[in-house]
Amino acid sequence: MSEFRGRHILITGASTGIGRATATVLARRGARVSLIARSEETLSAAVEEIRGQGGTAAFGVADVADKASLLSVIDAAEGAFGPIEGLFANAGTGGRFASILDADDVVFDSVLRTNLTSVFWAMRRVLPGMVARRRGTVLVTGSLASERGMAGNPAYVASKHGLLGLARAAALDVAIHQVRVNALLPGLIETPLLHNLGGDDIPAMLAALGRHVPQGRVGKAEETAEVAAFLLSDAAAHVTGQAWAVDGGILGTLSLG
Ligand SMILES: NC(=O)c1ccc[n+]([C@@H]2O[C@H](COP(=O)([O-])OP(=O)(O)OC[C@H]3O[C@@H](n4cnc5c(N)ncnc54)[C@H](OP(=O)(O)O)[C@@H]3O)[C@@H](O)[C@H]2O)c1
Repeated sequence: MSEFRGRHILITGASTGIGRATATVLARRGARVSLIARSEETLSAAVEEIRGQGGTAAFGVADVADKASLLSVIDAAEGAFGPIEGLFANAGTGGRFASILDADDVVFDSVLRTNLTSVFWAMRRVLPGMVARRRGTVLVTGSLASERGMAGNPAYVASKHGLLGLARAAALDVAIHQVRVNALLPGLIETPLLHNLGGDDIPAMLAALGRHVPQGRVGKAEETAEVAAFLLSDAAAHVTGQAWAVDGGILGTLSLG
């Protein structure tokens, strides 16, 4: 399939989980993918795997919370693969669990900077070019916490609510130029982030989480990547300003059982 033929798509948080799975899907469909994260070793392995499947990929190492570093890898990616036609701003951190009563200023600032402010910087960097070319799309990774409050992590919830607001506001600012901005809202998806929620018995933890999902199971990174690829593709040409959940039915339902 070549729906993304030659198109340059930059993905942050691409070394593992949802970002890596999306990079793999897009490269299989012909995109040139730039993978950004902090771990050079993991990024290098991801790029090798994509190239081994015949795809075109390169990586840049950056902490997205460091503006200069983020802008520098975006410049380098454009130098290698040309103007960014798709930005998947997916890097995110869960921060540290603590109730608002025990929350910490430093953690709050750091989670906001990684999950929200970095996406503002990346949008400010790529959207003017997309607007000038009247072509391009941005997808951000929100969360169920973009739409709902959750206990014990005010920084994460605030950052993901803010991210959805940022996506919706930006969507309206650029829609007239045929540039699209959407938000992907993963539910409970099996990735290292979910594994890090703790416990020695990961299968039991995943099964327990799955019981909160109407479908009765957690989701897969690959299932999430398919929806990300759709939203980044021309098949979604008239979709902008949307929050698109991939959550096995959580957000759309009310379980009284
Ligand atoms: N899995 C879920 O159930 C779930 C649910 C809702 C939302 N999400 C969101 O989905 C996104 C992807 O998470 P995931 O589930 O795929 O988890 P993951 O496998 O842990 O992926 C997180 C990615 O972000 C990168 N990253 C983290 N902090 C970064 C930073 N400061 N600078 C650059 N890259 C950074 C990580 O790589 P390095 O560590 O190498 O930097 C990794 O590539 C996140 O925004 C997360 O909030 C996930």
